[in-house]
Amino acid sequence: MSEIIGLFPTPLMRVEKLLDAALIDALVAEFSCGAGSTNPKSDLLAHTGMLAPGSSAALRMVAALIAPGLAEFGEHLFGERLSWSIKEMWVNVLETGGHQAMHNHANSFVSGVLYLTASHPSAATVFVKSPAGSDFIFNNNHPGAAASPFNAGKYTTPAAAAGDLVLFPSYLLHEVPANRGEQRVTLAFNAIPDRLDSWGYTVRFTN
Ligand SMILES: [Fe+2]
Repeated sequence: MSEIIGLFPTPLMRVEKLLDAALIDALVAEFSCGAGSTNPKSDLLAHTGMLAPGSSAALRMVAALIAPGLAEFGEHLFGERLSWSIKEMWVNVLETGGHQAMHNHANSFVSGVLYLTASHPSAATVFVKSPAGSDFIFNNNHPGAAASPFNAGKYTTPAAAAGDLVLFPSYLLHEVPANRGEQRVTLAFNAIPDRLDSWGYTVRFTN
């Protein structure tokens, strides 16, 4: 008998149709026009400022819908059902031709993207293996080589529909390639647990 064991995998959670059409319409109407801050790396990407999750009825509903998945995802990261809260949310409006440069999210443990429109396949969120990771400095990338979780450097999320959610560890690098479809609107957020405990050495986090 032989077996291959995947060591140290990275969790990523997808939830389809978390938001219904009425809530999506309310969010787009309330926030997409407020995306007045142009992204420094793409003129065709704009963001709102940071939104407090308690600042609007629609955002409170979003936070309540995210909560169960957030608690479950956090359990995969830290091995325990912790008390999670969303620190901030913001809305991103990506026009045709715009892109989001590779980045990750500081001062956060779990981040998420809620799609408020469908996302054209060209503009799927792409997660990127850290270039600073431990790996061979050679590769074997060519059409005859099969990609696997052990050799892939990127993961392209499946087609996203309005209302879908993706949760990921905040350290994980991600990007959105040039959007060849119609306007793409997303609501992003960062979340923290109330505390982490390492053998009695505890750190607490508050908004
Ligand atoms: Fe991001």
